[in-house]
This record gives sequence, structure tokens and C-alpha cells, in this order.
Amino acid sequence: MNGRVPIGVFDSGYGGLTVFRAIRAMMPDYDFIYLGDTARAPYGNRSFDTVHEYTRQCVDWFFRAGCPLVILACNTASAKALRTIQQLDLPLLAPDKRVLGVIRPTAEVIGNYTRTGHIGILGTRGTINSGSYEIELKKFFPGLQIHQMACPMWVPLIENGAYNDEGTDYFIQKYLDELMSENANIDTILLACTHYPILIDRIRKHLPGHINVVSQGSIVAHSLYDYLQRHKEMNARLSRGGSVTVCTTDDPSDFDTHASLFFEQEVRSTQVHL
Ligand code: DGL
Repeated sequence: MNGRVPIGVFDSGYGGLTVFRAIRAMMPDYDFIYLGDTARAPYGNRSFDTVHEYTRQCVDWFFRAGCPLVILACNTASAKALRTIQQLDLPLLAPDKRVLGVIRPTAEVIGNYTRTGHIGILGTRGTINSGSYEIELKKFFPGLQIHQMACPMWVPLIENGAYNDEGTDYFIQKYLDELMSENANIDTILLACTHYPILIDRIRKHLPGHINVVSQGSIVAHSLYDYLQRHKEMNARLSRGGSVTVCTTDDPSDFDTHASLFFEQEVRSTQVHL
């Protein structure tokens, strides 16, 4: 990689580009490689074992590409694969490398956004059923009341280009109603899925104005920046050429068509084989 030592950013597909966009805006000097495993996405309804196996293969690909640090910019992979990768795989495969997720950095701060102490979390079935947000949030905000809702229709609607369609409002309303009927005191809703920021304006339209809808891109970006300030040895290993390489495990032209919506700029990807 021409002497480059990039930060790896991983997602099951294009959604992680919403997180990567924020990371890149905050740290434009670093070199990055983004990999979307579009050949096997979405991960949202897959089992723990499958998400772990797919994610581990992608992490291994990043290591072979020379990345000492990989960010799982995917809530489902962070929920279902990160712990096993950190605790079992890394010590055997690559003890000098690091893999970080998006759930812990979000859990560290999201409790500060609520006044009522009631927070809503929206994600894929995999993320919600894993209970990962609850586990992490209890560590940092033990008194917080957590209300969760899986929104399995949102990712397919976005991926099929229906994010602006009227019919999509039905499914936005449906999940928000179900969430809000759990507790009317919810005043903060976290979009715990990389795709959902695409719907943020429409989600806000369906909620009372006092409810704070939070997407996690800038939270994760701040946390990574902070991590590198605290881990100077890792920071020193990373190269600063300001480059961005985007890779996909499936057809690049299809990836690029979708990706610009998430990255808010044109994307030219390359297909890779794991
Ligand atoms: N990137 C996934 C997430 O944040 C959503 C897409 C998928 O299900 O693979 O949970």
C-alpha cells in the first residue's frame, strides 16, 4: 500500500459511510480504507455465528491490507462480533492490532442527552436482540430507562431507494408509535443503525419537537479522535496522506450508485476478494 498505514473502517455495506463521513471530516489527514461487505449484506437478521464469521474475515482482510486499527462502523457487527474478536480472535491472530466498535463510544455519552432519563434505541433486529446497548449503557448510566425497538423494514426501504417515498412514512410512523407507546417520557431517540441517518428528517417530522433524535457519526468520530490522543503508540503507527480507498466485496458500480447517498460525495470503489 505504498508505505501507507491506514485506519480500516468496516460495514456490512454502504451504511457505515455515514459514520466514516463524520470520521473523515474530523480527521482528514489520516489515510483510510473503507470496506463494505455488500456481497453478504445485510447482516441485520443474521445469527451471532454468521455475523462473527463474516466480520472476522473482513477484519483479517484489513490486517492483510496493512491496517493496525479497524473500526467496525456497523452496529450489528459491533453487537454480535466485536466482543469475540477482541477477546478470542485478536490475542491469537494479531495481538498488536486493535478493533473498535460503535456501541461503546455511543453508550459512553448518550445518557447525557436525556433530561427525563428515558431513552429510545432504534436498530436492526440483530442489534436490538443482542441487548448490547443495554449492557453498555448500564455501565455508564445505571439509572437510565432504556426502550428499544427493532425496525427491520427501514434498511430494505433505504437500500431500494424508497427513503423519500410516501409509503415509507407508514413504516416510520409504525415503529415510532410502537416505541413511544412504551413510555411517553422518552425524550431522546438514538439511531443505532448506520442507515437510519438517511431518514432523520422524516423521523423528526413524526415526533413531537422536544424529542432529540441522535445519529452516532460524530459521536464515534470524537471518540476515535480521543482514543488516538490517549493511545499515542497507535497514533504514531498511522500514516497521514489524507487518502481514502473504498472497497466492496460485490459489484463496484452498484456500490457507487448507493454509496454517494451515504457519503454525500461521489464514491469510486474497487472490488476485493476476501
Ligand atoms: N450496518 C448495519 C447496522 O448498522 C445495517 C445494515 C445491515 O443490516 O447490514 O446495523
